Formats: sequence, C-alpha cells, structure tokens
Amino acid sequence: MRVLGIESSCDETAASVVERDPDSGRARILSNLVASQVAIHAQYGGVVPEVASRAHIETIVPTIEAALKQAGLTFAELDGFAVTHGPGLVGALLVGVETARALAYATGKPLQGVNHLAGHLAAVHLYDDTMPLPAVPPWPHLALLVSGGHTALFRVQGHGDLIALGSTRDDAAGEAYDKVGKLLGMGYPAGAKIDALAARGDPLAHAFPRALPGREDLEFSFSGLKTAVATRVEKAPPQNEQELADLCASFQAAVVDVLVRKTRKALQQQGLRHLVVAGGVAANQGLRKALAAASEADGFTLYIPRVAYCTDNAAMIAAEGAALLQKSTPSRAELLALTVDPGLPIARART
Ligand code: KG4
Ligand code: ZN
Repeated sequence: MRVLGIESSCDETAASVVERDPDSGRARILSNLVASQVAIHAQYGGVVPEVASRAHIETIVPTIEAALKQAGLTFAELDGFAVTHGPGLVGALLVGVETARALAYATGKPLQGVNHLAGHLAAVHLYDDTMPLPAVPPWPHLALLVSGGHTALFRVQGHGDLIALGSTRDDAAGEAYDKVGKLLGMGYPAGAKIDALAARGDPLAHAFPRALPGREDLEFSFSGLKTAVATRVEKAPPQNEQELADLCASFQAAVVDVLVRKTRKALQQQGLRHLVVAGGVAANQGLRKALAAASEADGFTLYIPRVAYCTDNAAMIAAEGAALLQKSTPSRAELLALTVDPGLPIARART
C-alpha cells in the first residue's frame, strides 16, 4: 500500500510517500521531504505559532508536489493519504489537515488521521534503499518518546493502540535541551549541539539534580534541572570550550540518567522485553549509548530509528497511516468529520 503522508504539527512542513508491506509491517520510503522552518524561528529563540502557520501555507503544496515527483508517482497511483491531526499547534495542524482533506476529496482516496506521537513510534518501521531491513518489534512493547514537545512512556499494543504510563510534569526533554542551549547562547534548536559538545566533556564536572529518581511512578520533570543549570551559568559562566563541554556533559548525564532509569523501571513493571525509542531526542548519542548498555545488562531488545527519522518527518506519519488504513478504511463520513485536535489524548494507564 502506497500512502502519501503530511506533517505540519510544529515547525516542519513535511510530505513523504511510503510503501508498506502488510506482512512484515515495514514501510519503504519512496520520498521524504522536510521543509524546515528552523531558520525562520531561530531569530525568536523558539517556534512562533502564527509565523509557523503562515510558513506551512506557503510551503505545503510545493512540498507535496516534490514528494510525489521524487517517488515517481501520480496521485492516481496512491492508495491513500495520512495526516497528523494532533497533538500540536492548532493553526499549523489545520494547514496539513485541510490540505489532506482537499486531496482526499478531489481524488476519492481514503484519508487517515494520525496521532503525531504514534507517528513518531512508527519510525522504527521505516527503511530506505541505503540501509538494511530494520528489525520489527513485536507487540506488546514499551516505547519511550522523547521530543521537543513530549517525554512519555507508553505500553504499545498495536498500531494506534497506546496506553500512556507516565509523562513529564513540566518541560519535555528536548525542551530542556533547547532552553539550556538558549541560556548558553547556542540558538534554537540546541539538542544536537549540546550532544556534540557533551561527547568532549566530563559528565562528573557538575552534580546536577535528577528529578523524581526514587519514586516508583513513571513521571518525569526537567524544569528543576534547567533551573540548576541556569543558576550555575549565572554564578560561573563557562570560560572556555572545555568548561562549556563539561557543563553540557553534566547536563546531558542528568537527562539521560533519568530517562534510562524510568525506562528500565517501566520495562520491569510491565513485564516487557522490547523497547522502542523515538522522537527528536532519540537522536542523542549519549542516550543511545546508555540505552544500548542497559539493554545488554537487562536483556531487553532495543529498537531506535535512524537519526534522520527520529526528528519530525512525514514518512513516519505515512507509515502509521498506512498501517491503520490496512486495518480498516475510514468512511466518507469519517473523512468529512476529520478535524484538528491540538491536545489529542492517549489513554492513560490506571494506577
Ligand atoms: O521530534 P522533534 O523533531 O519535534 C517534536 O515533535 O518536538 O524533536 C525536536 C527536539 C528539539 O528539542 C531538539 O533540540 C531535540 O529534539 N534534538 C536533540 C538532538 N537532536 C534533536 N536533543 C538531544 N540530542 C540530540 N542529538
Ligand atoms: Zn515530533
């Protein structure tokens, strides 16, 4: 099944065509375009919602056209469409959803609304011609989603069947990276820059707090850590590259430590042996290394998408959409009713 996916929930306008094999569950990427607005928002130090919506309007049609062209296909050769309908910025989501609805209407093909978080998790099923076929995680499995907007653990029972086990009480992990980067004058987004500097620093240089470490629940909190780094920088700003690297390494150690600790706890509590990690922060080298070590020690299997598929893209939305479309085709009434839900909820586990 060939599906064109559209993603516009935040600051990337993305379109992609994937071909999903229903037997293996893998989705081959035929094209994957991401028009990033990072340069536009960088001057403000973060995403400005109204500016994002306007940029999506300008970019979405050419991005979709380019995705089809790169895949060498016409609309007639597609089996359907998928679009992120939440969670995200309402104005930004609207651009993608209304464009997708118009396409589905005009072509008579089915359209599947996709939860952005479930989309991130589907990135493990993606592959392209430059990589070996990825291993497919069996269900049920645990998922750690770490992005700029979310930090959460899910029990995943199937496509679109997620149960939230815990999430952040305040900042998301990626948000903490971006805020710390801002106060270090690194610009937005800062995750990859801090990650690169951390590799050359001493993680023991500063003892930053690990929030909620001893608690049995699976909640996260990163705002105290961000404040601790801010206080430290205010008192004693880094004087050279090495001191900056040490600060980044110590901050990263605190983030990674908590993420890995709660993930291990969740695997144990849920009796699960397979872990999927996704979202922009899953690109983090320190986190990837620490999770690989934990998987060795605890004996669980780790699945992490390619770095390029960890951050926002439309291939993951197309892959999740194709999986849902292969389960059942939404009716015309459902197409008409498809709407934006900026706070799209996921069922929470009873505690
Ligand atoms: O998943 P994503 O593209 O967008 C959201 O859905 O939020 O994630 C973007 C976030 C940003 O906060 C960015 O700083 C962070 O992912 N990020 C990283 C790395 N690469 C991107 N954080 C830590 N280490 C990285 N290597
Ligand atoms: Zn995302």
